[in-house]
Amino acid sequence: MTWLITGGAGYIGAHVARAMQAAGERVVVIDDLSSGLAERLPDGVELVRGSVLDRGLMDATLTGHGVSGVVHLAGRKQVGESVEQPLSYYRDNVHGLTVVLEAAVAAGVRRFLFSSSAAVYGVPDAELITESTPCAPINPYGETKLAGEWLVRAAGRAHGLSTACLRYFNVAGAAAPELADIGVYNVIPMFFDRLTHGDEPRIFGADYPTPDGTCVRDYIHVADLADAHLAVAAKLAADDVPGDLTLNVGRGAGVSVRELADLVASVTGLPMSPVVEERRPGDAAKAVASDELIARELGWKATRGVREMVESAWDGWCLRHPGARGK
Ligand SMILES: NC(=O)c1ccc[n+]([C@@H]2O[C@H](COP(=O)([O-])OP(=O)(O)OC[C@H]3O[C@@H](n4cnc5c(N)ncnc54)[C@H](O)[C@@H]3O)[C@@H](O)[C@H]2O)c1
Repeated sequence: MTWLITGGAGYIGAHVARAMQAAGERVVVIDDLSSGLAERLPDGVELVRGSVLDRGLMDATLTGHGVSGVVHLAGRKQVGESVEQPLSYYRDNVHGLTVVLEAAVAAGVRRFLFSSSAAVYGVPDAELITESTPCAPINPYGETKLAGEWLVRAAGRAHGLSTACLRYFNVAGAAAPELADIGVYNVIPMFFDRLTHGDEPRIFGADYPTPDGTCVRDYIHVADLADAHLAVAAKLAADDVPGDLTLNVGRGAGVSVRELADLVASVTGLPMSPVVEERRPGDAAKAVASDELIARELGWKATRGVREMVESAWDGWCLRHPGARGK
């Protein structure tokens, strides 16, 4: 079948596009390249350059390519920016999704997979976050993802789509250096950025109720995440009965910021003594996924560890920042 991947030139989307193509699926991508890179796409995957907000372009892309499944990743993802620009976040993430769903329904698409986020949970007080942990997002970004899930499930029920909402935890690493994350908003690239500019990495808060006092998170290798998409796509394609899935995608294992900093020092070989600063508002002490439901529903489990994430992210960083290695 043919899958349309919105935001397929992005960090995660390009991994999903490659994995789907390697699994023998036909793939087309729509991306406005606002934060994506066309060169991430492999030969054989056509890029339609434009916005998902453009209904005419969406219709033409879906019908022109005979698309029968959509993976919707296009959107904006910076929490701080979403606080400053809530209107544009709601427009791109919620209205954009509405346009994609309307076009998908009109084109007779039957399978729909949506990129949600652990941000829907807000600051949960749970040892392991399950899919039934209450959702209480604390910023506009998380709100747009939760509203997106509601839209996807409601449209699925009303229009007979099989849908899946995947709540990604902290995505890291790269399957190949040229596919690496180019932003410096996540903790691993943030550490690399400070180290290669001669600044000490910062740790926000070391007095949390965690074993070493720093925040604990669940990091998932982007190649594992892409494999999870394949498993979900297969499930949606196999099931004739419309239905919806909402699944965490994490490793079910926590890593503290301090442990991550030690790993970054070990992988890069760069001397590092992180500076401890004040806690940031809105940071949960611990956010670790339960990965039981996805294992039960799909037989899927992450296989790659955190060192592999840091090593592959570092290879990607060094490709874009020649001279970073051996500083
Ligand atoms: N990276 C993470 O840790 C993480 C965690 C949870 C959820 N997510 C979600 O996963 C999705 C992909 O994230 P990513 O890390 O690959 O980000 P990214 O910025 O690398 O990718 C987003 C892609 O969407 C494209 N895009 C944005 N607005 C568009 C529009 N209106 N029309 C067409 N294309 C548009 C961008 O050009 C980019 O290629 C996002 O929805 C994000 O919220 C990411």
